[in-house]
Amino acid sequence: MIDSKNNIFVLSGKRYTYAMYVNAAGYLQHVYYGKKVSTADVEYCAANISCRFAPQPNDINADTKFNEMPGEFGFYAHGDFREPSVIVERADGAAMSRFRYAKHEIFDGAPEMRGLPHVRGGGQTLEITLKDDFSDTEIALEYTAYDDSDVLARGAKIKNTGKAANVLKKAFSFCVDLGAGDYRLLRLYGNWAAERSPVISPIEQGITRLQSLRGESSHQMNPFAAVLGANCTEESGVCYGAQLVYSGSFAITAEKSFNGSVRLQGGVNDTNFAWTLGAGESFTAPQALLCYSDNGLGELSRQYADFLRGHVINPQTVYKRRPIVVNNWEATYFDFDTDKLFAIIDEAAKLGVDTFVLDDGWFGARNDDTAALGDWFVNEKKLRGGLQAVIERCKQNGMKFGLWFEPEGLSENSDLFRAHPDWAIGRDGVEPCRPRNQLVLDFTRKEVVDYIFSAVSKILSEYEISYVKWDFNRSISENYSRAAREQGGFSHRYILGVYDLAERLTSAFPEIFFEGCAAGGARFDAGMLYYFSQIWTSDNTDAYERAKIQWGTGMCYPASAISCHVSACPNHWTGRTTPLSTRGAVASLGAFGYELDLTKLTEEEKARVKEQIRRYKQTHELVLRGDLYRLCNPFSDNFFCEMLVSKDKTSAYAAGMCLRGDPYASNRTVRLRGLDEKKTYAVQELGLTASGAALMQMGLYVPGSQEYDGWQWTLTET
Ligand code: GLA
Repeated sequence: MIDSKNNIFVLSGKRYTYAMYVNAAGYLQHVYYGKKVSTADVEYCAANISCRFAPQPNDINADTKFNEMPGEFGFYAHGDFREPSVIVERADGAAMSRFRYAKHEIFDGAPEMRGLPHVRGGGQTLEITLKDDFSDTEIALEYTAYDDSDVLARGAKIKNTGKAANVLKKAFSFCVDLGAGDYRLLRLYGNWAAERSPVISPIEQGITRLQSLRGESSHQMNPFAAVLGANCTEESGVCYGAQLVYSGSFAITAEKSFNGSVRLQGGVNDTNFAWTLGAGESFTAPQALLCYSDNGLGELSRQYADFLRGHVINPQTVYKRRPIVVNNWEATYFDFDTDKLFAIIDEAAKLGVDTFVLDDGWFGARNDDTAALGDWFVNEKKLRGGLQAVIERCKQNGMKFGLWFEPEGLSENSDLFRAHPDWAIGRDGVEPCRPRNQLVLDFTRKEVVDYIFSAVSKILSEYEISYVKWDFNRSISENYSRAAREQGGFSHRYILGVYDLAERLTSAFPEIFFEGCAAGGARFDAGMLYYFSQIWTSDNTDAYERAKIQWGTGMCYPASAISCHVSACPNHWTGRTTPLSTRGAVASLGAFGYELDLTKLTEEEKARVKEQIRRYKQTHELVLRGDLYRLCNPFSDNFFCEMLVSKDKTSAYAAGMCLRGDPYASNRTVRLRGLDEKKTYAVQELGLTASGAALMQMGLYVPGSQEYDGWQWTLTET
């Protein structure tokens, strides 16, 4: 709900209020962000704050006043020395700005945004337009609030209203001043095969910057941050989240000022950013999703999960029952032929797998990672009978077929590169970096995106394909387009090209289920989820490591988006051997599948796989729609355990594992969460019945305390 009177704006969601007001000097000042309060309370707060921080009209003591004013968008070079949110440089190089309130509008629904992923309607939007005193620039700040959610979507559109061109040097999406507090900052840090570990540190004076400069949201830093109040835990205390609906180079900064207040802001990475705005042109910054919880981090995660599923993720597939796939990557890598694939398909069908996904290596002259990216035609030498034979084999077995692409990838040893060397990102005379022996196509160019659209579409329309895995296997290093006049906006234009292709392909083939991937989980973000309902979480499928990766990923993304496969042991990346049952238990907490040579399993293992698939089908709905409760933290505990609970609390499912053997853990219980205290639940695996209160207050004993023991508990109301 949005309320506005006497220059005060009050936005309320399920349990929060966010308030601003226009002060006597015309600045849009932040008033309050926290637990839900009344408009009268906000008026009290605004009256109180007005005599503390607000510069008065014609106030010359701007130095202290601007610098302390809690703002909604930081401006530059005029008395506010905190990090700006926007920098607009004019022809003479001047860039100072002083934005003041001009007008506002309230409308139902969310703002229209072309070319960028965004919240898909619903809610109510407040658009406040600010005008610069020193240049012909307007900023429309957009706030979309939902009565049934604690997520507040924010965006910013910057417009050149003058006759001469300006250059945007920085254009963040949001800025919020949280006031003074003993805050800590949580980020999701990582690397390839170790994505999204939560790292928490105090917010110290100065600026803490989370960023990617890789042209992708990255393995290393996710475009998400949470500011935690002093006593915030998993289950209690105040925290604020900010995640960007964006997949490219980003920055999120937390700045603690001399007075202890913390400014959180972020958007497109401003390093070497430059975007010319001609007369009348606008720049739309990607949206940011803010979230408030006074019920700990767990609640923040559940709010984000519901919001992403309800308002961002591709609605055609978000709640669609996920195919249980077997992917041949770790079974064969590049070394496969039709017979090998047939054997896997035949075995998969017997075990209950729905879809066979053919990974990298089916196209062009692709026998290793040095060649053929860009050559999207079937390698009939390798695949006797072509793709059709593989698809027929799936059909004969009652299975569907999925296919891997890397639409943005380009090998120098490819027909496409030989025909269009200038389509590669980079500059003549600068030796490019070649991670994984490959270059990247210049998706800032429309003709390149058009070509890839037609090449991929050709395959998708010629064959019966129900599933596409869209991969992207390297960071972008040489930010340069051979076709562009201005290079400063390269990185952003690149990701706009990716979104364009994703939009076109998902619209042209609505019946195909798309899975995102980027060398494992280098582009796991709300931007990609807008198009793809699930994302390959990490190439690391070792249950021990996956427990951690899934724990971190669930901080701000729903379980249904977290693609999890059971792979072979010893694990190909870590060498660790864990029981098949434990690998199954950990993978069952997300979108489930297999990534191994099923023909190499023993009969006993095959029986277990069959059983895992049968059981997964029972709890699948909880993965798609349930609430996630994190029970045992694998970063600090000997155990990992997470739980999914249905909205009506009639069913639940928990899975966990013992990370380090502990002979003294026989008394160890796991207290369940999210149940209805008064309901009685049967725990299928243990053959016991207990009240929600007992299960939450006393818990269940961990079934195994030996290293890598795993468990599953399926609960139904009796
Ligand atoms: C990436 C993906 C893997 C696989 C390979 C194929 O690493 O994360 O799952 O598809 O590429 O080259």
